[in-house]
Amino acid sequence: MRASNTPDYVPLGLQELRSDLPLSCDLYFDNGGRYVLYRESSLPFTRSDCDRLLASGVNHLWAPLSKDGAGSSQCLSTLLALPDEQLPAKAKAQVWYGSAMAIAKRSVVSAIEQETLADLYGLLGSTVSYLARRKSAFHTLLSATAHDHSAYTHAINVAVYSLGLGIATGASESDLRNLGLAAFLHDIGKTKIAREVLHKPGPLTPEEWVIMKQHPAWGEDILSTLAGLPQDVLTIVSQHHERLDGMGYPRGVARENLHRFSRIVSIVDAFDAMTSDRCYALARSPFAALALLKEEVGEKYDPKLFASLVLLLGNPRVGHA
Ligand SMILES: [Fe+2]
Repeated sequence: MRASNTPDYVPLGLQELRSDLPLSCDLYFDNGGRYVLYRESSLPFTRSDCDRLLASGVNHLWAPLSKDGAGSSQCLSTLLALPDEQLPAKAKAQVWYGSAMAIAKRSVVSAIEQETLADLYGLLGSTVSYLARRKSAFHTLLSATAHDHSAYTHAINVAVYSLGLGIATGASESDLRNLGLAAFLHDIGKTKIAREVLHKPGPLTPEEWVIMKQHPAWGEDILSTLAGLPQDVLTIVSQHHERLDGMGYPRGVARENLHRFSRIVSIVDAFDAMTSDRCYALARSPFAALALLKEEVGEKYDPKLFASLVLLLGNPRVGHA
């Protein structure tokens, strides 16, 4: 459990830092699990600093993920905006994933706090800017994700895929931040479900299904207690298991009553579940998952979004309207 006043830290691989960097974040050593300030954000960090550290056996410095979101998102934005010659795409993806994972650990398996929401908005602002600026960014971020279907990786994956599809449909940056937030938190209602039901290695009983089918509505309830969340976010979370034909849950919302972003999270959630190892099934290949989804396109999933998902996955430079 994270101490309430201790920030999380994300690693910066020094091998990857190829030139003088205008970093707007403090940098720390990891001294046996204790983080010691190495350099304040106001001071320069040069290539020769980097080489000296590497020569003395230090391979990483650590950037703090602050509790109010301001410092960390500014730092992450700076890093993601650097040219690839200064910070290669792979290193950007690692820093971004470290930030996303740290926030996921605070927000998707326990009661989310207002300050975590601020961090999440900061992360999504940086992510949306990066995705909107570079056509290859979607696949860069996707390369860092995992497919073990833990609650953390699922939240991150669904957010990245949803943002990719949102950009493909021409959504504005502020709409994308709300879409990303809803995608990241879509299963927050599962925090009310017992572990034995959530991780059951077999089919659920009818009684267990009644409980499971409440998690979108419970997610809406949880998020409605936080200040500053747009209604769109609550609606997307509450509708992520609804289907075009009205056979989804919990309310059977159909067709034109489905929020355009609920449709995105819905298809992406199903795709990521199919392509990740779960407690009751092994991961399918992306091709096999798309073939299965295709059978339900039009009935359960939006045909235009399915076509966009196929394009997005197939072409590293597709993702922009
Ligand atoms: Fe769900």
